[in-house]
Amino acid sequence: MSGALFVDVDSIPNRGSFEKRSLDRSVLFSAPTHFDVDYEINPYMRPGVDEERAAAQWESLVELFGELADVTVFDADGVRTELDEEAAVTPPEDLPDMAFCSNHALSIPGEDRFVLARMATAERRDEPAYFERWAEAAGYEVVRLHTDAPFEGCGDARWHPGRDLLWGGYGQRSELGAYRELAERFGIDVVPLELTDDAYYHLDVCFSALDETTALVCPDAFTATGRAKLDRLFDTLIEVPAAAAQEGFACNCHAVGGELVVIQETNDATIDRLEAHGYETVGVATDEFMKAGGSVACLAFPY
Ligand code: ARG
Repeated sequence: MSGALFVDVDSIPNRGSFEKRSLDRSVLFSAPTHFDVDYEINPYMRPGVDEERAAAQWESLVELFGELADVTVFDADGVRTELDEEAAVTPPEDLPDMAFCSNHALSIPGEDRFVLARMATAERRDEPAYFERWAEAAGYEVVRLHTDAPFEGCGDARWHPGRDLLWGGYGQRSELGAYRELAERFGIDVVPLELTDDAYYHLDVCFSALDETTALVCPDAFTATGRAKLDRLFDTLIEVPAAAAQEGFACNCHAVGGELVVIQETNDATIDRLEAHGYETVGVATDEFMKAGGSVACLAFPY
């Protein structure tokens, strides 16, 4: 890694050498113990969560991932893995978005290290501390950014599978200053992607890198410059119309092992296209979480 921000995309060799541990096999979930919609910080948020239904949807998702990947869960009763008591975190009631743990940090591939998020909104400001407690108890090093610039972890920062390259969504929640520090301090090559509209308040609402060569993208979310960067670094962009990205959270999916895509089930057209491109798909119901503006990718933190 050379640590360049605004990395010159044309200078990147066509195939990378991302030999580090792949990030799609270990996934963390945070229990939706107090999940609800109590405030409105993205255009999708609407009250009326059915708590039991949300809990059941989340349990099914965790169970499914349990068959596909190494899964760790932290919840009010503690961590449901071999970890000891100290790993227990109890998310307080006033943090209803805690289940969206993909926003709490970014994992550095190949290093037992997380860069902690700094949430853009006051409503979620206290969440990353709970992630930090889990991570430290689990033996990971947690580093905080020095900059005041907001950085919402994997909600906006996604590694390019197979390459030493980080796609950095900015302009809605995370800011460029955070990526500058990631580049300079940690030697990460960052390709910034400006998000044009609050309908795409996180990068994971409009972009999912399925494997080294293919990504699911909603072109509507990006500037012409951003689209050109995506075009340059992926061989195939499977395009998702704005309506599917926004109504079905089609891009907020999670690809396991570069071949199986876990996706909100009400996305027939996207599912057909994924299958036509050779991906297996599993449709899941996440509609209770969509009431808060999130689906599969927001709930599953890859590390
Ligand atoms: N209500 C949460 C927020 O607005 C939802 C977060 C969803 N997470 C995601 N990665 N898009 O921050």
